[in-house]
Amino acid sequence: MTASPATAPTPASTTSEPLLKVTDLTKHFPIRRGLLQRVVGAVRAVDGLNFEVSKGETLSLVGESGCGKTTTGRMLTRLLEPTKGEILFEGRDITHASVGQMRPLRRDVQMIFQDPYGSLNPRHTVGTIVGKPFRLQNVKTEHGIKREVQGLLELVGLNPEHYNRYPHEFSGGQRQRIGIARSLALKPKLIVADEPVSALDVSIQAQVINLLEDLQDELGLTYVVIAHDLSVVRHMSDRVAVMYLGNLVEIADRDELYARPMHPYTTALMSAVPIPDPSRRGRTERIRLEGDVPSPISPPPACRFHTRCWKAQEVCKTETPPLVELAPGHAVACHFPENVDLPDPAVRPGASSPLQAAAAELSPGGEVPHDDASRDAPRVIPLDASREDAPVDAPERTDASGDAPGDVPDDAPGGPSKPEDA
Ligand SMILES: Nc1ncnc2c1ncn2[C@@H]1O[C@H](COP(=O)(O)OP(=O)(O)OP(=O)(O)O)[C@@H](O)[C@H]1O
Ligand code: SF4
Ligand SMILES: [Mg+2]
Repeated sequence: MTASPATAPTPASTTSEPLLKVTDLTKHFPIRRGLLQRVVGAVRAVDGLNFEVSKGETLSLVGESGCGKTTTGRMLTRLLEPTKGEILFEGRDITHASVGQMRPLRRDVQMIFQDPYGSLNPRHTVGTIVGKPFRLQNVKTEHGIKREVQGLLELVGLNPEHYNRYPHEFSGGQRQRIGIARSLALKPKLIVADEPVSALDVSIQAQVINLLEDLQDELGLTYVVIAHDLSVVRHMSDRVAVMYLGNLVEIADRDELYARPMHPYTTALMSAVPIPDPSRRGRTERIRLEGDVPSPISPPPACRFHTRCWKAQEVCKTETPPLVELAPGHAVACHFPENVDLPDPAVRPGASSPLQAAAAELSPGGEVPHDDASRDAPRVIPLDASREDAPVDAPERTDASGDAPGDVPDDAPGGPSKPEDA
C-alpha cells in the first residue's frame, strides 16, 4: 500500500494543528527472570496507537480492564517512557523529553487519577496538596499560594475555608474534586483523566462529570478521558476510541459510534450500556463476551479479538485488519465490520475480506493490504476527501451472531454465549 498516513481520523471540523498527536505509540514492559535479570519476554501493554486530539475536544479511550488505557495515559503525561512511537504536543516532539525539557510541559499536561483515596497524601492538608504544583514549579502567584488555592477550591465547588482540612475529612466525590483542583493549579491545556468517576457512587459520578464539562467550557480545556464503561463517557465525549488488548480497534465521533458501532467488540461493549428509555429496553440484545481478555504477554495473532469474536473467520487469525476510515471520521480495524456496506472481496483479486477490498478501493495504488511481519501497528487508510462518503447502512441486527456468512457457531470454543434481553 503506498499511501498510509499513520494517524487515525480527526474530527471533520478540525483544520488546525492538533493539540496532541500520537503515532505508533507502544509500551512493552520487559519481563525479567533469574539472577541476571535477563529479559525473557514482554507485556505488550500498548501496541502501536495512532490518534489525534484537537484543542477543546474530549476524546475518550474505552476498553476492558488490562487493555492498556492507563499505560497510554501515563505515556501521554510522560509518567512512563514509551518503548516506541512519537508524541507531539502542540507540534513539539515530547516522546523522550528529559526532566528539564519536561518542566514547562508539566504545567500544560496534567493527570487526574482514578482513585480519589490513594492519589491524595493523607498526611497533607488540602492546602498543601493543591498548592504543591505551584511550589514544585516555583510559581509565584499574584495573590500568594493560599489565595490561589482557595480560588481553585471554590472553582471546583469546595468550601475555601476547608483549606486546612485533611483528605479523610472529605467524601469520595469531594476528594475527586480536590484532585481536579490540583490538576487545574497550573492552568493546563490538556488533562488526562484516568477513570475520574469509577470509584464514586453513581449519584456523585454525574456531579463530577458535570464539573469537568463546566470547567472545560470555562477554561477551554482539552480532555483525554479513560473509562472502561461506554455509558460513563457517553455524554462528555466528542469522540470515542475503543481499545482492545493494546490496539485501537475503532474510533469515531460519539454520536456516530453509538448509532452504528462497526467493530464487534464495540457492539458487545455497547450492548452492556443501560438504556434509559423503558420503551426501548428489551429490544436490544445483550452480547456477553466469553472468557477473559487474553494475556498481553502473548496476544493472539492477527486480529487480537478473534478468540472471543462470534464473527471470526480464517482470515481473522492470519491477517491483522488495518484501521480503515470507512465513513468520515469513523475508522475500524475489523475484516467483517458491522453496520456498513463494503465491496465484495471477490471483486478485488487478493482480498480475503470486505475490509481488505475496501482498503484497496480507498488506496491510491489500489493495493490489497496484507500483513507485514515487520509491522506492529495497524495501518490507517484514510478516506479520500474527494470521494463520496462511503455508503453507510445500519441494518437491524436480528440475532446476536450477526448475519455474516461463516459465523463461528455459538457453541464453538471461544464463541459467544446466547444473547439475553437487556
Ligand atoms: N509496570 C508494569 N509492569 C508490567 N506490566 C504492566 C505494568 N503496568 C501495567 N502492566 C500491564 O499492562 C497491561 C495494561 O495495563 P493498564 O493498567 O494500562 O490497563 P488498563 O486498561 O488501564 O486496565 P484497568 O481498566 O484495569 O485500569 C496489563 O496487562 C498490566 O498488567
Ligand atoms: S470479525 Fe474477525 S477481524 Fe473482525 S473483530 Fe471479529 S475476529 Fe476480528
Ligand atoms: Mg487503568
